[in-house]
Amino acid sequence: MRVVRDPREMQDLALAKRRSGARIGVVPTMGFLHEGHLSLVRIAKREADWVVLTLFVNPTQFGPKEDLDRYPRDFDRDCALCEAEGVDVVFAPETPEVYAPDHTVYVVEDVLTRGLCGASRPGHFRGVLTVVAKLFNLTLPDVAVFGEKDAQQLRVIRRMTRDLNFPVEIVGGPILREADGVAMSSRNKNLDPASRRIAPRLYQSLCAARTAYEAGERRMAALRERVLETLGDLSPGAVDYLEVVDDVTLESCGERADAPVLIALAVQFPGVRLIDNIRLD
Ligand code: PAF
Repeated sequence: MRVVRDPREMQDLALAKRRSGARIGVVPTMGFLHEGHLSLVRIAKREADWVVLTLFVNPTQFGPKEDLDRYPRDFDRDCALCEAEGVDVVFAPETPEVYAPDHTVYVVEDVLTRGLCGASRPGHFRGVLTVVAKLFNLTLPDVAVFGEKDAQQLRVIRRMTRDLNFPVEIVGGPILREADGVAMSSRNKNLDPASRRIAPRLYQSLCAARTAYEAGERRMAALRERVLETLGDLSPGAVDYLEVVDDVTLESCGERADAPVLIALAVQFPGVRLIDNIRLD
């Protein structure tokens, strides 16, 4: 396995691979890898001949009061995990190599990013799309794999890929969960013990809504109520958002959730914001 730091070297390497006819797969990550990331690597390995995992904590997707400095990092462990999974290249550039100090160009999506995380994290998706576009240009993938846990991110990246004609197939990987249902996330490590005990309620509450949906409940308010009931008492303001949206447009479903829907929520614990979602079809 090769570790590449220099964007130019990465691009040359990818170009040579493309010319040799290899199908390139990319798994973009911010590191501190867990089983969820590794499951994306396994998908990429099935889909491609040569797999690059990018490891870059992207500052432009963090707001000024967010956890950029506290975002967990462990480069050596990440490399060991990648090596064990058969990743071909870990691309881990430094921030000044990715962003020129006077950079002024960003990628912006205007519609799918209006609600959910886009509403509570202004500028977040501008940072995500900009870095993903840059990573696509540097690694030249045929296929790129992203987790379904970041459901809005996945849909926004698909839209960017379509609208900007990137010749990249976007594949979504299912959410992987801990034994108690907590969606795997690098941020889980920063949960204090009390928050970690409460965290399983996120998925339990989504499952409660799914049970109601499967029993025929389509009233949006009733589905929301099921989630809130199961979440129970959290500190005031802890629920950043809880939305029942159309799975494709990400617009609120109105009174009735008849089309395939996504129920998405974000809960703020001390110093850690967790997101989760469930798709009901
Ligand atoms: O999902 C993530 O880890 C990040 O948002 C991504 C896609 C790697 C961009 O920095």
